[in-house]
Amino acid sequence: MRIDIISIFPEFFGVLDISLLGRARQAGLIDLAVHNLRDFTHDRHSTVDDTPYGGGAGMVMKPEPWGEALDSILPAAPEPGVMPTGAGTGPVLIFPSPAGEQFTQAMARELAAEPHLVFGCGRYEGIDQRVVDHFAGRGRVRLVSLGDYVLNGGEVAVMAMIEAIGRLIPGVVGNPESLVEESHEDGLLEYPSYTKPASWRGLDVPPVLLSGNHGAIATWRREKQLERTRAVRPDLLPADMADAELLPPANSKARRGSRG
Ligand code: ADE
Repeated sequence: MRIDIISIFPEFFGVLDISLLGRARQAGLIDLAVHNLRDFTHDRHSTVDDTPYGGGAGMVMKPEPWGEALDSILPAAPEPGVMPTGAGTGPVLIFPSPAGEQFTQAMARELAAEPHLVFGCGRYEGIDQRVVDHFAGRGRVRLVSLGDYVLNGGEVAVMAMIEAIGRLIPGVVGNPESLVEESHEDGLLEYPSYTKPASWRGLDVPPVLLSGNHGAIATWRREKQLERTRAVRPDLLPADMADAELLPPANSKARRGSRG
């Protein structure tokens, strides 16, 4: 997958050199480039923002540097008079914004299947709306929010999105089984996990996990998922799951094992 990021703080993305995503880049699974928006300005002060038309507090990011930066990354604009072809094709162009659609595990999965993602990190009061409107004809533009709170800019949101998307690219996580039984993958929060020692500071690992009974373990884990989800994220449960059966999901190891 190719990923381009445009930001006035390219240093933010140094962490993408390390850990799982750093290794994925070295292995050639992710081809990532970070572009400094100020490289696309032409004045002495490398100005990227200006006061808002209509008044109000804060500054708005100017359209010209964004236009040049995105022109340098996206496929060429159509000739005048030629129908734009990019609206449903080309890279997905993502602008993180608290005014966007909510980023979810389902969106991460969808975006992990794309060959090319471009992230535009806004700062201040946001980017001139005409940038979004113009490029909607040349790529698949999405405004995406990390959650119902306001960050100082899009960089942290893009880091979170790239981590969530990147680990779903085949080959990035060594053992793909570990992706299956996680929070949100089956619509529920994940069950609690334990490792050795079996007893620590007076707290024992639940005995069922030491039993070797895979069916009982899968049922216990399912119960814990439902218990947790009901307690802290009841909004994730479909109405008919309020009293859902406590069987492990159909694709779990325990079920496969019990079929022999
Ligand atoms: N930029 C500022 N706040 C944001 C948020 N909640 N999600 C995505 N981008 C943002």
